[in-house]
Amino acid sequence: MLKVESLHQAYGGSHILRGLSFEVKTGEVTTLLGRNGVGKTTLLKSLMGLVKTREGSMSFDGRDITHLPPHERVKAGIGYVPQGREIFPRLTVEENLLMGLATRPGSSKIPERIFEMFPVLAKMMHRRGGDLSGGQQQQLAIGRALAMGPKLLILDEPTEGIQPSIIKDIERAIRMLAQTGEMAILLVEQYYDFAESLADQYLLMERGEFIMRGRGETMPQDGVREALAV
Ligand SMILES: Nc1ncnc2c1ncn2[C@@H]1O[C@H](COP(=O)(O)OP(=O)(O)OP(=O)(O)O)[C@@H](O)[C@H]1O
Ligand SMILES: [Mg+2]
Repeated sequence: MLKVESLHQAYGGSHILRGLSFEVKTGEVTTLLGRNGVGKTTLLKSLMGLVKTREGSMSFDGRDITHLPPHERVKAGIGYVPQGREIFPRLTVEENLLMGLATRPGSSKIPERIFEMFPVLAKMMHRRGGDLSGGQQQQLAIGRALAMGPKLLILDEPTEGIQPSIIKDIERAIRMLAQTGEMAILLVEQYYDFAESLADQYLLMERGEFIMRGRGETMPQDGVREALAV
């Protein structure tokens, strides 16, 4: 679904991503792990076209997207849940979800599945986004990205600063989405247990390079938890 080849990225003179190559497949959760500041968000922003690619290429659904602007990538079917959520605090839950729908021509109804996954959003439909708890805002941000019916869903640290009960709900939702086989999921995480429970494939990043990678089920014997903690 998504294929990245030899991606290099830099801010000014500082080299952040150093030749990353990987694939993200439909029906799978690919988990990207790495400590603070190693370049995880920079990679996601590159995939969204929010940072211009310095070197390397990326294709999505068989199409070269290396130089596409962000809105074209969204239209092509890449859904993005940014770190820190970035919902519209002054818009209601419903309006936030409708904003997600806006990129999808010809549809005006919020998919029922979003409310099945996150019932709290149905209950809080007319509350302002900014009045929701952090965990509820995270669910709203995921719901907004799903409203456009993405083929690839990208999530940047969805558990950051969120209470355990809601982490469980989000875990269940991501697993369910992967199991439909309709989309590919790229999940950035630092919370090891959450990452391990969801990963079909994992990538471990250190200073802009992958230092370990493999199938999710081999994460314990590969020592990923320990490598992340060092
Ligand atoms: N706009 C920017 N301009 C200059 N440097 C930046 C910019 N954004 C990030 N950086 C630097 O690039 C490096 C990688 O940052 P990035 O946000 O990609 O890390 P991260 O792995 O997502 O970290 P975290 O886990 O804390 O979210 C860091 O050293 C950061 O300070
Ligand atoms: Mg980040």
